[in-house]
Amino acid sequence: MKVLVLEGGARKSGNTSTVTGWVVEELGSMGHEVERITLQDKDIKGCLACMKCKGKADEVGCVIKDDAISILEKMVAAELVLFTSPLYFWGVAGPLKSLIDRSYSLYIDYHQPTHASLVEGQRQALLVTGAGPWENNAEATFTAFNRLQRPHMAVKAGELFIGRCAAPEDLGEGVKKEAITFAQEIGGAS
Ligand SMILES: Cc1cc2nc3c(=O)[nH]c(=O)nc-3n(C[C@H](O)[C@H](O)[C@H](O)COP(=O)(O)O)c2cc1C
Repeated sequence: MKVLVLEGGARKSGNTSTVTGWVVEELGSMGHEVERITLQDKDIKGCLACMKCKGKADEVGCVIKDDAISILEKMVAAELVLFTSPLYFWGVAGPLKSLIDRSYSLYIDYHQPTHASLVEGQRQALLVTGAGPWENNAEATFTAFNRLQRPHMAVKAGELFIGRCAAPEDLGEGVKKEAITFAQEIGGAS
């Protein structure tokens, strides 16, 4: 399966990328073809809400010609997309939020019988790390993610929150096992 990992965090050896690394390793050993993109390194502007993407369902219709276009095209080609991010103020980090906002250009006619999406049927998963617990902290991020599949016409493949993170070197064997189980869950179908 073609897997695209869209990483919202800036720290290349941080908590999120460490856990993501374990997930990617397992997906690779399952035979999946995985590409990781650090969104922080890319030029991804915010959605203009110009609505010029609406009316097009055969290509990425966004008019802002920055790095988001090729990333969204890779997203269209992927069978599984894994979004990863540190938790920032009860949401995902800015670069990932911007990319998700730009994914507005992947579908048309939401809530109408003519609703169509370039990522229809795609499997999507979310991995988030945070310093705090799940309660009163991480829920809203996962609620938003669980709603993203509706306009995208995608399928939720799984979710993983690793809370109470300190330093990456303190992430223990238990977290590694959770990451491996998560990879097996999201990579299960081909
Ligand atoms: C700007 C900023 C906002 C944060 N907001 C939250 C938050 O709302 N909840 C939380 O649990 N942790 C929060 N944290 C902590 C990070 O989510 C946590 O340390 C995470 O594991 C860091 O991941 P990284 O090492 O991949 O950067 C915040 C950190 C930063 C820098």
